[in-house]
Amino acid sequence: MCGIVGYVGKQKAASILLEGLKRLEYRGYDSAGVATWQSGGFQIAKKVGRVDSLMRQTEAAKLGGTSGIGHTRWATHGGVTDTNSHPHLSSDGKIVLIHNGVIENYAAIKKFLLTKNFRFQSETDTEVLGNLIAYHYAKEPTAPDANRFLEAVRKTLRHVEGTYGIAVMCADQPDEIVAARKGSPLILGVGDGENMLASDVSAIISRTQSVVYLKDGEIVLLSAAGFSITTLESDDVTAVIDKVTWEVADAELGDYTHFMEKEIFEQPAALENTMRGRFSEDGSTSNFGGLNTPASDFREIDRIHFLACGSAWHACLVAEHLIERYARVPVEVDYASEFRYRNAPLGRHTLFFTVSQSGETIDTLAGLREAKRKGYKVLAINNVVGSTIAREADGGVYQHVGPEIGVASTKAFTSQLLLGAMLALHIGRMRDMSFADGTAFVQALKQTPDLVRETLKLAPQLKDIAKRYAHHQDFLFLGRLSLFPVALEGALKLKEISYIHAEGYPAAEMKHGPIALVSEDCPSVIFAPPGEMFNKVVSSMQEIKARKGKIIAIVTKSCQLPEGLADEIVCLPDCHEAVLPILATVPVQLLSYYMAVALGRDVDKPRNLAKSVTVE
Ligand code: F6R
Repeated sequence: MCGIVGYVGKQKAASILLEGLKRLEYRGYDSAGVATWQSGGFQIAKKVGRVDSLMRQTEAAKLGGTSGIGHTRWATHGGVTDTNSHPHLSSDGKIVLIHNGVIENYAAIKKFLLTKNFRFQSETDTEVLGNLIAYHYAKEPTAPDANRFLEAVRKTLRHVEGTYGIAVMCADQPDEIVAARKGSPLILGVGDGENMLASDVSAIISRTQSVVYLKDGEIVLLSAAGFSITTLESDDVTAVIDKVTWEVADAELGDYTHFMEKEIFEQPAALENTMRGRFSEDGSTSNFGGLNTPASDFREIDRIHFLACGSAWHACLVAEHLIERYARVPVEVDYASEFRYRNAPLGRHTLFFTVSQSGETIDTLAGLREAKRKGYKVLAINNVVGSTIAREADGGVYQHVGPEIGVASTKAFTSQLLLGAMLALHIGRMRDMSFADGTAFVQALKQTPDLVRETLKLAPQLKDIAKRYAHHQDFLFLGRLSLFPVALEGALKLKEISYIHAEGYPAAEMKHGPIALVSEDCPSVIFAPPGEMFNKVVSSMQEIKARKGKIIAIVTKSCQLPEGLADEIVCLPDCHEAVLPILATVPVQLLSYYMAVALGRDVDKPRNLAKSVTVE
């Protein structure tokens, strides 16, 4: 949430910052702003709305100077106004600052600063931070060889409670930027005669692939010529420069209209990347290089505890079903935000997994820290390499699906489903699963990308259904067993990008309350795959039909529904039970995408949302 970018070098900073902000916009899009240093003063342009309107309605693109900072905002403290937009200038004009995070003790600091004659323009917590840096800068003498600006930031951060990723400039040292993080992501891009800062790699990938993933409690001072990293306690840090493996094109739209559409259609390739090199040579199990967990540990555990949020939480519910069924290990799935505070009694041999596309979700990170604090081993499934969760976990698995830019998760979700199935196989083979069953499981999983390719051919049918159903205000999504979480995911996708009210339930639960919603105006999307539940799901459909509810049935080729029961039948390829949740996800992704398009919604940047939720 909120995107930060900074540049110091020899090129015109404003254009580089604005390009970076365009790429970071999915992190927040309430307002945008840039500040550069030009002709002896800070030049600031900021505006409510998207980066495009900042460029159209202000002089942002024309700002001169070769150093500057830029921000896209997802509002926390203070409404969505031009004044509350970042960057913020301290009231003495010395310090300009951008911030991602929440300063929890801002009220006390503001009270103090008011007594020191600092003035405030905005309602934000961020402005307090800028003024406090200015206060320390003006007041505190420093050792002759110390960097006064850097020390003022360091002193300020020692007084701050909450989370921050900040980039700061000082009028007396305009060719330098000081940046720091605690709880909000920040990376340093190391260029040739220039250096950059950003919330994530996408903002700087067009200029450099060499990055340093900053850690909590670190402060970096950068200029065109170099950088140095220290801690809040003034200890030196030796920087590790990593190479980013993906290309600029991976974060661009290409021939697609929306990133969500692109990412839905990228799923076959994304799943191939997730599974590449992860099946054993004898073809009977899956292997993961980074789990740091020997087979003996997997045999010892008596419970797996998943922590995640949103779509990732739905993926864990599917993993729960598959791990319990194939590996026979009891599984618990917690919302990370609840786990952190509910002080659940935990067993002695529990293994924790956190699942997070971004690896920065603050609730999931806090859950990981709580489990580790209690002495548990925590493994992580993440997509973003070098993310905070990936670094703090005891081991883990990367998803390798490339950047996910659309705010609604699609390819990252199906990749998490695949990894859940591969984990069930991995643990199952260390316990009771036979060689033959393992081999059959591997063969089934290997077919997933091709089956998803085939499923994507349903797009024209789903587009047509979406157009005809988009006027409805309410939807039910119903599924059983491993498809209940897919029903939850379908409802979430529809809600978040089309703003249509939708609820997901286990199909049989419908008659315990939600059936009251059923009418001609509230269609139901129902998963009816073959197997032991088929006839029971058909009974649920009959109950809906009896109440004039419309039915969009998602079946597989071998299923024969009673004539006339469903209004629409979407037919998936037949597949292994572990692959079914992945295939079943594709039509609900397409349905919500096309409905949102039919309603003219801003698909990639739905209202009130932002990618990567780094505030509590
Ligand atoms: C929904 C969606 C969110 C995320 C959730 C967790 O489409 O994208 O619900 O799944 O915010 O995000 P990560 O996986 O980054 O922890």
